[in-house]
Amino acid sequence: MKLTVIGAGYVGLVTAACLADTGNEVMCIEKVSSKLETLRKGESPIYEPGLSEVLKKNISNGNITFSDNIDEGVRFAEAIFLCVGTPQSDTGKADLSQVEEAARQIASISDGYKLIIEKSTVPVNTHRRVKMTLNRYAAPDAQFDVASNPEFLREGSALYDFSNPDRIVVGVESERAEQIFKDIYKPYTDQGFPLLITTPAAAELIKHASNSFLALKISYINMVSDLCEKVGADIELVADGMGYDKRIGRPFLNAGLGYGGSCFPKDIKAFINMANENGVDFTLLEEADMINASRRSKYLEMIEDILWINKDKQICIWGLAFKPNTDDIREAPAIDIVGELGEAGAQLRLFDPKATENFKNFYPEGGNIKYFNDKYEALNGADALLIVTEWSEFKEADIEKIKSLMQLPIIIDGRNIYDPATMKEAGVEYYSIGR
Ligand code: UGA
Repeated sequence: MKLTVIGAGYVGLVTAACLADTGNEVMCIEKVSSKLETLRKGESPIYEPGLSEVLKKNISNGNITFSDNIDEGVRFAEAIFLCVGTPQSDTGKADLSQVEEAARQIASISDGYKLIIEKSTVPVNTHRRVKMTLNRYAAPDAQFDVASNPEFLREGSALYDFSNPDRIVVGVESERAEQIFKDIYKPYTDQGFPLLITTPAAAELIKHASNSFLALKISYINMVSDLCEKVGADIELVADGMGYDKRIGRPFLNAGLGYGGSCFPKDIKAFINMANENGVDFTLLEEADMINASRRSKYLEMIEDILWINKDKQICIWGLAFKPNTDDIREAPAIDIVGELGEAGAQLRLFDPKATENFKNFYPEGGNIKYFNDKYEALNGADALLIVTEWSEFKEADIEKIKSLMQLPIIIDGRNIYDPATMKEAGVEYYSIGR
């Protein structure tokens, strides 16, 4: 099929690449023309494992092309995915101006039938606004269906998630639109992945409610970890024990520094806002978001309690990305931790396998901030090691080497990546969360 994807951000690029990889002809529209050259070479502007390879393959076989011309994109295909940004406004509400702008542009060019697909995360009933805009600005012979087809892609494993979905959700209002989705997703439904066909409003809600629920689950386990610390239980064992219950499940029960990234913090606020606008009091989620914010301050208190005075201490931080396997630092705990420790006058030695460049844009090198290309080099002479992101290479690190490089073998682990008994045996002064 011919498909157009508007917006080559994280979601758009992964969607375009994966749909091209199942044999569709995809045109991806990106208005930032400086990005086009990179994209046409098959280079991904974001770090996502495997993405560059899939892009290169599908550029060379002609399945994917890039353009900054939205007119061209609208004429190219009957089905158009909207993957533009929906950032958070000052009030916490989603800013939908890019969605509205794209709808106006599509309307002004369209003739005949077009299926407009919301892929970006939007508040419930945005499809109505999109449809209203399309109809308002369109030529009389244009005909539209608006559908919602939310994404459930985790950064760092987005290609896997796209190709192995727990479910594919589509919210449609016509049989024609439903059939187009059945064709697009046939390679996946043929493998047995479930396709849930519902209304646009339900599909929009499924996405927002899923992210909010996962955020709630993380805050819940973080509160249980506080209790574990008080009563002398191990949160990892408690989470394992809870996770065996199939109704609960072990994923997203990892206590630590809480959630960050471009999705959960923004989506939970937008969901609360949308619930309030509809007269539903969702203080449950407000509480979850406050608990999340308190994780960072609690960790900083813990550091101060252990080191007593942070000023002039050589503190090594492993992990700057908001989670492993990404270079994304949006809402990353490391931002607050580096900020506070820097203010307190600590000498910071920072390492991340992928996110250093992005972090440098936030906190440039200099003063009391130093960046390293090697995790062990960063440790040289350190008074303490903070684990802020749980990259596998940190889990597999050589403990004896860590000890020998540090001034004092103190590890303050915000992600529970090491076993306390092993650390004790190795002579490391080891602190972690909820254990
Ligand atoms: C999340 C969802 O998992 C995707 O399904 C969704 O499509 C995406 O948002 C989105 O809306 O676009 P992502 O933000 O990439 O994906 O990352 P997650 O793997 O979900 O992790 C989110 C945050 O929760 C991270 O900061 C992570 O460190 C934290 N987390 C996760 C925990 O603190 N504990 C856990 O047990 C799991």
